[in-house]
Amino acid sequence: TNRTFTMIKPDAVEKGYIGGILNMINEGGFKIVAMKYTQLSKRDAEAFYAIHKERPFFGELVEFMTRGPIVAAILEKENAVADFRTLIGATNPAEAAEGTIRKKYASSIGENAVHGSDSDENAAIEGAFHFAGREIF
Ligand code: GTP
Ligand code: MG
Repeated sequence: TNRTFTMIKPDAVEKGYIGGILNMINEGGFKIVAMKYTQLSKRDAEAFYAIHKERPFFGELVEFMTRGPIVAAILEKENAVADFRTLIGATNPAEAAEGTIRKKYASSIGENAVHGSDSDENAAIEGAFHFAGREIF
């Protein structure tokens, strides 16, 4: 068993998709071990996506991720990181497989409904960014 970190992004929250996405996460066999409703500051988003800071869409990405509340959560499952990337689907929803969260709920490559950590190391860093030990069950 191990863990990954996810965010339901502002576009999906705005559209009322929190319940639908959490349902797909549960149906996918993930256990929610930490969860909160919060909003990223500009500084938070810049730090969280620092790896993309030289990309042309960085400003747009930070603007998007800070424009409204998000749901942040730590998820537990065997092979959590890879299995969750499979469940969310490709970054661009036009390329996302049938049955994935992005296929169902994402509207564009920028506004793509959910985040999923890309490695065990980043899952740990991203989880610790949002949650204290006593908030993880
Ligand atoms: P995350 O789970 O959010 O990290 O997405 P990802 O791992 O599937 O994609 P990646 O880490 O490469 O990009 C991070 C985020 O930047 C994406 O989820 C998008 O929100 C955004 N992004 C990526 N490519 C583009 C792009 O070409 N244009 C815009 N506007 N945003 C992009
Ligand atoms: Mg990524």
